[in-house]
Amino acid sequence: MTNYSEFITPNKLYKMISYKELGLVNSKELFAKAVKGGYAIPAFNFNNMEQMQAIISACVETKSPVILQVSSGARKYANQTLLRYMAQGAVEYAKELGQNIPIVLHLDHGDSFELCKSCIDMGFSSVMIDGSHHSFEKNIELTKQVVEYAHAHGVTVEGELGVLAGVEDEVSAEHHTYTQPEEVEEFVKRTGVDSLAISIGTSHGAFKFKPGQKPEIRLDILEEIEKRIPGFPIVLHGASSVPQDVVADINKFGGKLEDSIGIPEEQLRMAAASAVCKINIDSDGRLAMTAAIRKVFAQSPAEFDPRKYLGPARDALKELYKHKILNVLGSNDKI
Ligand code: G3H
Ligand code: 13P
Ligand code: ZN
Repeated sequence: MTNYSEFITPNKLYKMISYKELGLVNSKELFAKAVKGGYAIPAFNFNNMEQMQAIISACVETKSPVILQVSSGARKYANQTLLRYMAQGAVEYAKELGQNIPIVLHLDHGDSFELCKSCIDMGFSSVMIDGSHHSFEKNIELTKQVVEYAHAHGVTVEGELGVLAGVEDEVSAEHHTYTQPEEVEEFVKRTGVDSLAISIGTSHGAFKFKPGQKPEIRLDILEEIEKRIPGFPIVLHGASSVPQDVVADINKFGGKLEDSIGIPEEQLRMAAASAVCKINIDSDGRLAMTAAIRKVFAQSPAEFDPRKYLGPARDALKELYKHKILNVLGSNDKI
């Protein structure tokens, strides 16, 4: 029988459950293997069923572990309880497709202890506490508080040092501040985090650089960080590459996206071969789905069955994820 314990807040009844009962895993072992093996685990954001199906089927077909990533915006959009059950469903769905792949359910950009705690209590196996906008001391204090609660529940924690540029619904900063290598050792030691997100030139969203600019991941800073905390799992956010053929399709089929370029995949491959063991990709998936849906609407304007446009969007997303796993992250055949 499921070991639920229930508690009541003024207006909500939550069912507390451990991720272990949902068949999920934390990121500890996955990261240790990824750092040793010179590859990165995909962290793909999801907000709905089609995205989840695309992620799981791509990872099953490539035999890749995966981090299902939920932002606070996703929690508001889809409802936290439904997302939790979808992650539980993902574990069963993967088995049904023929592979028992390791699946992590991770909170992306948690901004408070309370949010992290609520996710841990509801079955997340990993959380990010993003204290990067705070002072160094405040970031340490907040991160440490989350680590203490998370570790008591077997949940792993990602912290962040340095600020990425870029704008999404819930995450924004105009300019990036690179991570200072001289701060990482103290941060990791004093907080007890399991992985560290760093700022080395990637940025959030689909509008990262203008054509003509030269995107550059500062591999020299990464190297300096690795020297200070050898073998420690490093995370890259803002790692979408903004595929130009996809942007062109969106605009060809009625869209109006500004010209922009993302992080070159060769640079991400180099990062994945080092201590970078988790790479976050969201915007490229948004673009792939949008291009597929626009194409159906442009070519079949009489279509109104959502399965007829969400289906192709799901297929496009799955292909994108398989490409990332096989050609960028190298996490295939690592289960
Ligand atoms: O880094 C942020 C993720 O892409 C999530 O974006 O807050 O709009 O869900 P969101
Ligand atoms: P992109 O916007 O580059 O896909 O980054 C996603 C991300 O970092 C999620 O945390
Ligand atoms: Zn991010």
